[in-house]
Amino acid sequence: MIPKTFFVLILAFIWVYAQDEFKPASACGECHQEIHLEWITSLHSMSTVQKDPLFRGMYNLAVEDTDGKLKEKCIVCHSPMATVFQNIDTGTRFNKDGVTCQFCHSVDSISGFRSAKDFVIDLKTVYSDSPDAETAPHPVAHRDFYTTSDFCLPCHAEMENTRGLDVCSTGEEWKTYFETHQETCQDCHMPEIGGVPSHMFPGSHRSGILENAVNMELAFDTTTSELKITLTNAGAGHAIPTGTPLRMVFLKVAVIDSAGKTLWQNWSENPIMEDKEGLFMKILGDSAGNGPVPPWKATQILFEKRLMPDEPVTVEYPVDHPNAYGVDVKLMFRYAPPPILKRLDITNPHYTQARVIVQKGMNL
Ligand code: HEC
Ligand code: HEC
Ligand code: HEC
Ligand code: HEC
Ligand code: HEC
Repeated sequence: MIPKTFFVLILAFIWVYAQDEFKPASACGECHQEIHLEWITSLHSMSTVQKDPLFRGMYNLAVEDTDGKLKEKCIVCHSPMATVFQNIDTGTRFNKDGVTCQFCHSVDSISGFRSAKDFVIDLKTVYSDSPDAETAPHPVAHRDFYTTSDFCLPCHAEMENTRGLDVCSTGEEWKTYFETHQETCQDCHMPEIGGVPSHMFPGSHRSGILENAVNMELAFDTTTSELKITLTNAGAGHAIPTGTPLRMVFLKVAVIDSAGKTLWQNWSENPIMEDKEGLFMKILGDSAGNGPVPPWKATQILFEKRLMPDEPVTVEYPVDHPNAYGVDVKLMFRYAPPPILKRLDITNPHYTQARVIVQKGMNL
C-alpha cells in the first residue's frame, strides 16, 4: 500500500512547479474536499454559459443585439479567470470553472468596486482570512478583507450598462443596512458550519433563505371593507428582490366564497400589466418608454418598488363582493418574466415555475 501522504506530497510538488498555472476547483478539492463539494452546489460554480441556462440565454441575446460588443463585459464577472488569462472564449477550461476557488483565493488587493477586473490577482500565493497556515503545502498569505463585504462588492455592488444606467444596486442597498446592523455579506451567505465558512453561498436559487426573509400580516378593515397586506423584509441585508433586474416578486390575492370558489383576483395573466400595487421589482425601459427591456437597451428605470430591509410596505385591496367569505394571499417569486424565458427557450421548471415565498389565508 502506498500511503495517502505520498499523493499529497506529489500534489504539493506539482503545485510548486506550476505556480502560474490555472488550477481548477477540482485540484483544490483533492485536499479541501468538503469545501469543494459545497462550492459545486453553489451558483458560483454554475455562473457560466455552460451551466446557467438563464445566463446563457441573456448572454447570447446580449452578444447578438450588440454585434459582440458585450461579450467581454458579461464574461468578466461570470468567468473571472477569463481576464486573468486574457481569453474570453467561453469554451476554455478556466472559463468553464466560473467563479472558482483560485480566483477568489488569489486576491492580493482590491482597487475598486465596479467589476471583477478590480481584483488585483497574484496566482503564486493562496490568500484568505486565515493566519498564515504553516502546514499548507502551498504558499499562503492573510488579508483582512476576506471577512468584509469589500471582497464581494467588486462583482456584486452595481452594474452600469453602456448607457450609464445602474441596473443593479445591491452594494448601495447593503450600505444603508450595514449602518444599523453591522452585518457583512459573509455573515448571511457564508455561515460557519463546523467552524468552517460555508461555500454554498445560499441565495434565491436555494429554497429556504428567501422564504424565511419575508413576514406577511393580513388585516381586514370592516368599516372600509379593505384588505391590508403588510410585507416586511426582515431577513435580507439588501432589497428583495436584489441583484439582476430580471427578478420579480408579486402578490397573488384571491377573494373566495364559502365553497372556496374564486370571486375576484388581483390579476389573471400578467401581474406586470395588471397590478403594479402588488408588484415588487425594477422595470427597465428604453428612451421611448417601452419596457421591460433587457439591461443593455435600458436608458431609464420605468418602475421601481422593492422591499427594503426593515421597512414595512402595506398594500390595500377593496373587498366589496357580497359573497366574499375569505381571502387567500400569496407572495410569489420568479427568476424572470415568463415572456423572457419563452424568448430564451428556457423550459427548466426551476426557472419557469413561480415559487411561493409566503402564503396566508383569512376569513372575513
Ligand atoms: C496538496 C493538498 C492541497 C491542495 C491541492 C490545496 N490545498 Fe489549500 N491547504 C492545504 C493544507 C494542508 C492547508 C493548511 C491546513 C488547513 O488549514 O487546512 C491549506 C490551507 C489553505 C488555506 C488557508 C486556510 C486555512 O485553513 O488555513 C486556503 C484558503 C486554501 N488552502 C485554499 C486552497 C485553494 C484555493 C486551493 C486550490 C487553488 C488549494 N488550497 C489547494 C492543502 C492543500
Ligand atoms: C466567491 C469567492 C470564493 C470562492 C469561489 C471560494 N472561496 Fe474560499 N473563502 C472565501 C471567503 C470570503 C472566505 C473567508 C470567509 C470568512 O471567513 O467569513 C473563504 C474561506 C476559505 C477557507 C478558509 C476556511 C477557514 O477555516 O477559515 C478555505 C480553506 C477556502 N476558502 C477554500 C476554498 C476552496 C477550496 C474553494 C473552491 C472549492 C473556495 N474556497 C472557493 C471566498 C471564496
Ligand atoms: C459586475 C459584475 C457582473 C457583470 C459585468 C455581469 N454580471 Fe451578470 N451577474 C452578476 C452577479 C453578481 C449576479 C448574481 C446576482 C443575482 O443573483 O441577482 C449576476 C446574475 C446574472 C443573471 C441571473 C442568472 C440566474 O440564473 O438567475 C443573468 C441572466 C446575468 N447575470 C446576465 C449577465 C449578462 C448578459 C451580462 C453582460 C451584459 C452580465 N450578466 C454581466 C455579476 C455581473
Ligand atoms: C442579513 C442577512 C443578509 C446580508 C447581510 C446580505 N444578504 Fe444577500 N440575501 C439574504 C437573503 C435572506 C436573501 C434571499 C432573498 C432574495 O433572494 O432576494 C439574499 C439573497 C441574495 C442574492 C440573490 C438574489 C437573487 O435574486 O438572485 C444575492 C446575489 C445576495 N443576496 C448577495 C449579497 C451580497 C453581495 C451581500 C453583501 C453586500 C449580501 N447579500 C448581504 C440575506 C443577506
Ligand atoms: C468574481 C465575481 C464574484 C465574486 C468575487 C463574488 N461573487 Fe457571488 N456571484 C457572482 C456571479 C456571477 C453570480 C451569479 C451566478 C449566476 O447566477 O449565473 C453570483 C451569485 C451569488 C449569489 C446568489 C446565489 C443564489 O442562490 O441565488 C450569492 C448569494 C452570492 N453570489 C454571494 C457572494 C458573496 C457573499 C461573495 C463574497 C464573499 C461573493 N458572492 C463574491 C460573482 C461573484
